[in-house]
Amino acid sequence: MAAVEAALADAVAIADPLADDVARHLVAAGGKRLRPFLTLLTGELGDGARPELVDAAIVVELTHLASLYHDDVMDSAPLRRGAPSVHSVWGNSVAILVGDLLFARASSRVASLGPEAVLLQSATFERLCLGQLHETTGPAGDEDAVAHYLQVLADKTASLLATSARFGAWFGGAPDEQVEIVAGYGEKVGIAFQLADDVLDLASTGDESGKTPGTDLREKVPTMPVLLLRRRVARGEASAADAALLAALDGDLTSDETLADVVGRLRAHDVLTETRELAARYAREAAAELAPLPEGPVREALEAFATALAHRAA
Ligand code: IPE
Ligand code: IPE
Ligand code: MG
Ligand code: MG
Repeated sequence: MAAVEAALADAVAIADPLADDVARHLVAAGGKRLRPFLTLLTGELGDGARPELVDAAIVVELTHLASLYHDDVMDSAPLRRGAPSVHSVWGNSVAILVGDLLFARASSRVASLGPEAVLLQSATFERLCLGQLHETTGPAGDEDAVAHYLQVLADKTASLLATSARFGAWFGGAPDEQVEIVAGYGEKVGIAFQLADDVLDLASTGDESGKTPGTDLREKVPTMPVLLLRRRVARGEASAADAALLAALDGDLTSDETLADVVGRLRAHDVLTETRELAARYAREAAAELAPLPEGPVREALEAFATALAHRAA
């Protein structure tokens, strides 16, 4: 991970001084580096010392990083990684363009890994964009909103975690079956991870998450707890208090007091527990995918990683 960190600093260096400042902003602000970590970890199924693993790890982190520049514009998020978001400092146009620059850097780095890796990265990036797009457009008239949302999570988030895991096993030189196994694991762990993110938007303090609680609610970005509440109300299974909460969620949340009030009510609601349980279920399913792998430290670490992601506080 130290090698990844050093290579990442090089990968975001840009000759233009403004672009350089903006491109370094979120790398310098922190972040968990989960995707490169997953690549290096699954790399240990083969020869974890191969230098291509660091390149692959940089490709997945750069792809993720660039998507954050764009996501914070779309979600009007004021904070990221405990720092002011890029658009809130430099404006939307700069955030979008430097996000694009970082995607370009991901592309040039993946080129060194060969055409098959380029194809995989582009297919992953395509799913990520479609996931973000379908989150924005919402379900079609007759589509089940929860099923639609699970597909959104798979595409916008799990796709890149699956690729992070696949790259590691692949460039570490693990057997083909193991490459497929860890990719299947990444798809499930990614859904668990993003469901936990929905919980965090409600349950975390900004200090822990580095993000502003309630941002998704305020911007009417769908999240699983709200979808579950909406489903209860639509099915006539909800109390009057639930219906009132949903009406408040669909109303104006620009005032900080109103937002804090609905965050508090959702925090204490069963739908938050239900979302946590769903995240834990996907994490267990992810761990179950690993059954055919040889027993040992890599498999154990992947199992622990799944549990940690579903129960994370940041
Ligand atoms: C945030 O991802 C975006 C999601 C897909 C939920 P992370 O929680 O991995 O963000 P960093 O990289 O640690 O900041
Ligand atoms: C993160 O999605 C961005 C991508 C997966 C591309 P969210 O909007 O759900 O995540 P946060 O809460 O801002 O990190
Ligand atoms: Mg967001
Ligand atoms: Mg978003």
